Amino acid sequence: MNDIKNNYDSHRGDIRNVSGTVGWESPANIALVKYWGKYPVQLPMNPSLSFVLKQSVVRIYLEYSIGDTDGAGVRDFTLNGAPNLNFQSRIGSFILSLQPIFPFLSKMNLSIRSESTFPHSAGIASSAAAFSALSLCLCSIESLLYEKPGPGMAENPESRSFLQKASYVARLGSGSACRSLQSGFVVWGRTGILPESSDEYAVGLPGSEVAPVFNTLRDAILVVDDATKKVSSSAGHALMNAHAYREARKVQAADNLEKMVIALKTGDESLFFKVLENEALSLHSLMMSSNPGYLLMRPATVSIIENILDFRQQSGIGIGFTLDAGPNIHLLYFERDRSAVKGFIEQSLLPFCSKRRWIDDGMGNGPRAI
Ligand code: DP6
Repeated sequence: MNDIKNNYDSHRGDIRNVSGTVGWESPANIALVKYWGKYPVQLPMNPSLSFVLKQSVVRIYLEYSIGDTDGAGVRDFTLNGAPNLNFQSRIGSFILSLQPIFPFLSKMNLSIRSESTFPHSAGIASSAAAFSALSLCLCSIESLLYEKPGPGMAENPESRSFLQKASYVARLGSGSACRSLQSGFVVWGRTGILPESSDEYAVGLPGSEVAPVFNTLRDAILVVDDATKKVSSSAGHALMNAHAYREARKVQAADNLEKMVIALKTGDESLFFKVLENEALSLHSLMMSSNPGYLLMRPATVSIIENILDFRQQSGIGIGFTLDAGPNIHLLYFERDRSAVKGFIEQSLLPFCSKRRWIDDGMGNGPRAI
């Protein structure tokens, strides 16, 4: 890709005394092939593949005003109605770092109101949803100020470039956020399997490459532990720099991506779950074998995994698990098995969940302007 920053010349024109509000809702995504390890600035060590969720979303309303004087950046930030200084400062630094891409930000005052459907302190990361929603808001402001292509139908090349830029910008906030910009299966990271793939933004896997059953995927998020993680994802990525298995991981991820793409295309459910679980367990093995090593699974995580494997063997129902960088389980299954899997969750898995908490989610449709 030629430098995306230069595709958007935001420097022209003198913009004064403009104000307004833009809003976007954006979903979380769950990786089937994991992004783990990165180069500066937020470029992935290996390609990853994910899909977006439906219920787990963040809505951001961004009020902006440009005056004659220099802007003060993010003036205030609220999450579900309450000020949140931690997130305000992370977003403040993000906005500051984006001035070379959006020079108008240096003159802008921003007030951000965000709402999240993630249950309070469920230990589920909302940063991918938040950074993608915020990036869409910034791209919308740019479109309004400079009459650039706005969002619209995905087939429209102009709106494709809008979403591509939003993905590029979201990546700078949090790597996995760049995969939250569209529905279907999404690949981030350069791979020979997908000629249009890039390390700088995510691209969709064409619908014709996906067997229909995989568009009915559901994700039951089983909340094992709602405490803040002891080791953040960013710290985990950093430990990959000197990891003894670093090179082997790159080979493994490329191989798993290829297999996952084949499984999706051919409708091979058994290969799908095999690769899914290999990725989840490999991710956590990489954490344990980092230097220093650490462990994010809890005893209940292991019990749930064992129950899932037993249930699959006994029932023959297509289910499998994955994990992000935390102890909570994402139980993946298909719409056709919804009632059987719900019964299994309620009877056998909820005893291992913190406060019997789980989130009944599934594949979503991507972001929407609000
Ligand atoms: C294990 O995107 O949260 O969920 O780029 O440092 O913000 P930063 O990391 P982040 O890492 C996500 C890691 C993962 C796997 C994945 O989503 O691919």
